[in-house]
Amino acid sequence: METHKQLTIGLFGFGVVGEGLYKVLQQTPSLKATIKKVCIKHAGKKREAPAELFTTDRDVILNDPDINVVVEVINESGPAFEIVSRALRSGKSVVSASKKMIAEHLPELLQLQKETNASLLYEAAACASIPVIRNLEEYYDNDLLHSIRAIVNGSTNFILTKMFEEKLGFQEALLLAQQLGFAESDPSLDVKGYDAANKWAFLLTHAYGIVVKIDDLVFSGIDHIQAGDAEVAREKHFDIKLVAQAKKLANGKVAAFVLPQFIRQDDHLVFVKNEFNGVVIESGFADKQFFYGKGAGSFPTASAVLSDLSALRYEYKYEYKKLYHHTPHELTDDFYIRVYLSFDDLKYIPTERFQAIEEWHADSDRKYLIGVIHFQDIKGQGWWRENGTSLVLTPDPIIEDMDVRKLKKKSLELAGLI
Ligand code: HSE
Repeated sequence: METHKQLTIGLFGFGVVGEGLYKVLQQTPSLKATIKKVCIKHAGKKREAPAELFTTDRDVILNDPDINVVVEVINESGPAFEIVSRALRSGKSVVSASKKMIAEHLPELLQLQKETNASLLYEAAACASIPVIRNLEEYYDNDLLHSIRAIVNGSTNFILTKMFEEKLGFQEALLLAQQLGFAESDPSLDVKGYDAANKWAFLLTHAYGIVVKIDDLVFSGIDHIQAGDAEVAREKHFDIKLVAQAKKLANGKVAAFVLPQFIRQDDHLVFVKNEFNGVVIESGFADKQFFYGKGAGSFPTASAVLSDLSALRYEYKYEYKKLYHHTPHELTDDFYIRVYLSFDDLKYIPTERFQAIEEWHADSDRKYLIGVIHFQDIKGQGWWRENGTSLVLTPDPIIEDMDVRKLKKKSLELAGLI
């Protein structure tokens, strides 16, 4: 039987994830993986590990021929990319948890993997403890992936849970997420949806072979959600969650975005609370499958790094099957979505662009409507998140057929808007 490869690790970063990995490896001796050096930014900090393990010189790791694996779990995207590129070029395998770096540099990383034939694994970069990337790569390796909907950011889910269920204020809930090590060092990345969009960008590559920059994705976070939106959700027996979704339309193209959404009580995602993440996959013949697990935090994230290390023992690589072995799918903007919009003043809402307005509540200071609008009237437009406007998707928001036309004028007339 083949003996598994001995892994000698050079670790970059000793924050929430790096320290978690250090502790987890001490409890998993069977893995035959040892950390030889840890590269950190600030030498002075007190750390729970022997001082001789640490260096501030990245070359100590990158030039060490004994180190065959680089684990990169640092915060800054630019330096992370340099470290990962140099490690791959020098023939080292790499495990990374830097979602922002991966999303920003995916085309270059794809090229580097081709050129060097070295493994770059990053299961910890999306949904932490849930093995979503490897499942998309290996298990859903066919044309039957109809849709994928996911909660991919633990902090925003934690904040929404605390606000909805424990009536904490937004700032208080965010502070707690920071103290527990879930939030990014710049928490606006979580709250404004950047972190979720980054993860969604490369999950789309593994799901559908789509390579996209987040600037080309429609996304927002939870910072526009108002108390009144939560009130409407409660009246309708919905929760509100930040959901990343992608759906293959009848023409074979893919609709994808990351937006807050009303969630029905019978939706699997309603069970996803606090820092947990969840992924609902709909595929031909299997129908729905639900993956659930902790999406942030030291040990859950370290567990995914550990699993990647374990996979390196048998030289596992992502094949990017949907990109290289199948015909990659294309993103499309040509569909409609049903949205809930709340606002202070109607003058900020381009009602003429709505195909249908199905509910209209204008009797209090904060007004809202539920209507159907073309996705192109959202994409690249600012109106839906400016001037205190809040947009939340309704359940099953994507409408692709033109039944929408039948609703159009009639509902606008009913609402007294034309
Ligand atoms: N800030 C991230 C989150 C950490 O809250 O999901 C895990 O990627």
